[in-house]
Amino acid sequence: MIPLVDLQAQHERIRGDVEAAAVRVLRSGRYASGPEVEAFEQQFATYCGTACAVGVNSGTSALYVALVAAGIGAGDEVVTVPFTFVATVDAIRRTGADVRFVDVDPGTLTMDPAALEAAVSRRTRAILPVHLYGQPADMDPILELARRHGLAVVEDAAQAHGARYKGRRAGSIGDAGCFSFYPTKNLSAAGEGGIIVANDPELARAARSLRSWGPTDAGGRTEAGGNYRMDEMQAAVLRVKLQHLDEWTRERRTVAERYDALLGTAVTTPSRVPGAEHVCNVYAIRSPRRDAIRAALLAARVECAVHYPAPIHLQAPYADLGYRAGAFPHAEQAAREVLSLPIYPELSEERQLAVVKAVRQAATS
Ligand SMILES: Cc1ncc(COP(=O)(O)O)c(C=O)c1O
Repeated sequence: MIPLVDLQAQHERIRGDVEAAAVRVLRSGRYASGPEVEAFEQQFATYCGTACAVGVNSGTSALYVALVAAGIGAGDEVVTVPFTFVATVDAIRRTGADVRFVDVDPGTLTMDPAALEAAVSRRTRAILPVHLYGQPADMDPILELARRHGLAVVEDAAQAHGARYKGRRAGSIGDAGCFSFYPTKNLSAAGEGGIIVANDPELARAARSLRSWGPTDAGGRTEAGGNYRMDEMQAAVLRVKLQHLDEWTRERRTVAERYDALLGTAVTTPSRVPGAEHVCNVYAIRSPRRDAIRAALLAARVECAVHYPAPIHLQAPYADLGYRAGAFPHAEQAAREVLSLPIYPELSEERQLAVVKAVRQAATS
């Protein structure tokens, strides 16, 4: 089977350093918030070009904590896209705020800035663009609109470690950037993890407090928080892997370029956002024959996945938002047509040829 991602291949390359880091933590006797988390936060903030970073226990927690730290709560509205992983929307709902969707651009599949103005109401407090598949959304018009209306911008950069938009790192462009270190991500923990990056020290301070039960005074807790802490083991592993991230990204891009060349016109791929540098977390193709291609890949023993088979507004837990089929046609069409092919830095050309052979046959027959 050709896997979608191969973390064993990654581990082989850095085994000595990762295992030494794990042993260092085990022997330290310090397992929750400690020096490894602090060091990783500093290193990741430097990497992103932000003043602050706050490590948490998942990308979902990063989104939730960042939104609350930015002052979002009940009675507010947050605008995001329906073509994303469910966590983006779930995090908004957990703050008590209401979700408003805007469709994605039919080419890039990221937030369509032209649709944004109509979605902003008197209650809108934040915009949450998603850097889908590793490609930054078109941030300049989003930021311009946010400034005009006094809205916060929280980036879902869960898939976009190291990506850039007009020279700026994903996550560092808005008021806060949220990353996931889930094992399939370009920078992954040996388990679960996430981080928030920000330039505003007040927002970072609020996030730091919220991730560990919130502020207290002599009378006890003064605001709600929870346990969203990053642990020392994950931070130690992430410190090792961060040193390799740019090299792995270059290798991913080489793999993606090879797919582009080998696939030719058999299928299409999402188009490029002007000024965006993609980090190829997901290599998605599009075809009206998606399901036939998927069956052919499985028959050829190639793992593939659909990111995402149903737009959020048509999923049962979000029925109460009141959106119907047809509300966001670009997101709905993308959900019918996209298919993610195996991609990881170590993927060989030989394996790519096998993947492409199956795709081409099914796409054109
Ligand atoms: C776009 C997006 N947002 C949020 C998340 C949530 O991250 P996590 O799985 O670490 O909670 C993910 C990860 O799967 C994601 O892809």
